[in-house]
Amino acid sequence: MRGIIFTELYELVEEKFGYELLDDVLLDLELTNDGAYTATGNYPFSELLDILIKLHEHTKIPIEDLLEVFGEYLFTRLLNMHPELAKTENVLEFLEQVETYIHIEVKKLYPDAELPKFNIVSKDEKSFKFYYISSKKLHHLAKGLIQGLSNHYKQPLEIKMGLEDKIGVFFEVTRI
Ligand code: HEM
Repeated sequence: MRGIIFTELYELVEEKFGYELLDDVLLDLELTNDGAYTATGNYPFSELLDILIKLHEHTKIPIEDLLEVFGEYLFTRLLNMHPELAKTENVLEFLEQVETYIHIEVKKLYPDAELPKFNIVSKDEKSFKFYYISSKKLHHLAKGLIQGLSNHYKQPLEIKMGLEDKIGVFFEVTRI
């Protein structure tokens, strides 16, 4: 998993809960470099899960909620890292381009990135339906990222997320 995901999670935890809680969480774990990640490095995904589980133990916030809040925050940070990848301000088109363009470019820039796949089911002016497919099962992070996209371009969206099935996790994103 790309280091930027870890460094941004740290930023958010510090902002919301303070440095001491972050320190307590990290002291409890055995992480690469004692958890001193760099944004451009690549680290085991299992360490992100370890950090999330500890955060949950310390804050009692469900991991799903932690991932959604993190995704909401992360969207703008990812965009700031690569503003040239934003080709449209229409949020439904943007969401489609995450699959057809943005993540493809991200993979070229960082060949070790492991990105989810979106299987597009249908799209029109009002809605975009797709399956989120990833062995990482970070669909709650995806939901948060879509909320972050909606906030960033000030275009309200209803985001319905289904239960995991044989294909992946179904999303129906509608303009409201
Ligand atoms: C609504 C918009 C977006 C959604 C829903 C989305 C979804 C995701 C998800 C769920 C992951 C976690 C990996 C997984 O689930 O397998 C991920 C990883 C990532 N995405 Fe996106 N993404 C969005 C926009 C962006 C943008 C705008 C950028 C950069 C300009 C970006 C760059 C990345 C990077 C660098 C990773 C980390 C890959 C790794 O750790 O190996 N994403 N994305």
